[in-house]
Amino acid sequence: MKFCKKKVMPKTVIPKQGVFNVKIPLIAKAVACVLGFFLFLRFGFPLFTSPLPYSVLAMYMILVTISTLIYVSIFEDDYQQFFLPIVTFIRGDEADNSFRKMSRIAVFVMIPLFMGFRTYKTVQPNFEPPFPPRVIHPAPPASAAGFVNPYGDDEENRETYLQEGRDIYYRNCVFCHGDKLDGKGLFAEALNVKPANFADSTTISMLQESFVFWRVTTGGIGLPDEATPWDSAMPRWELILSEEERWKAVMFLYDYTGWKPRTWELDAE
Ligand code: HEC
Repeated sequence: MKFCKKKVMPKTVIPKQGVFNVKIPLIAKAVACVLGFFLFLRFGFPLFTSPLPYSVLAMYMILVTISTLIYVSIFEDDYQQFFLPIVTFIRGDEADNSFRKMSRIAVFVMIPLFMGFRTYKTVQPNFEPPFPPRVIHPAPPASAAGFVNPYGDDEENRETYLQEGRDIYYRNCVFCHGDKLDGKGLFAEALNVKPANFADSTTISMLQESFVFWRVTTGGIGLPDEATPWDSAMPRWELILSEEERWKAVMFLYDYTGWKPRTWELDAE
């Protein structure tokens, strides 16, 4: 940092007096000033308003530190007075005793150790999973695209399958998805994420049948990472219902709500 080379007018020397007539070194004042600001921003500020985010706090502290350094380096006197203790500590002088020598060695050992540790920490591979944003309809695994409803073409027995699907729904799904398929089942209040509302145009009407089948099959557990952190309570029906039962339940969902599954043909339009 450059300091003022201009000859300053000789100041009338007023002995700087602190509390109890002890002269407080400039460096201590500077540290106290920076520390005081930090304590005020960190703990005093939240008394009046909401606490500052750490990034803002860091920004303020950088500004305060820079201003303090500018302040102490305006006059050469102050500048030298400010850095003298540091310089003496590093260089040592006649007044050196073994305690100061030891602390000097300690500091010189600790700085490289600290920097080495910091560097190690930053280059060390991180095993934490990255934070995945929650999506409502996560992309299914490639295997899900291959699901085909075995009853899709069987118009003759459609009513029977739907009747069976209805039974399956009201025996298994109704507690969460509700008796009107609106997601307002008995358990719904207690759940976060809420059960899907099939009556709404944003759920099964936007999905392909194979996707819905996959969702019923693997439930909340089968969801890929991007669907966390709120793992849903949707049970993993492959452990409870047979494949046929799951297909029938899916058919019932579409029949009851009147939605048509999304198809590739519709996608192409
Ligand atoms: C314990 C409560 C619970 C039960 C019982 C339950 N579900 Fe769910 N289900 C949920 C929750 C919660 C969600 C929403 C979060 C999610 O997508 O995983 C959901 C989501 C779904 C979805 C995804 C909808 C979409 O838009 O992606 C389908 C399909 C579904 N359920 C079908 C069923 C079927 C069929 C049954 C019965 C065989 C059933 N659920 C039983 C809790 C339940």
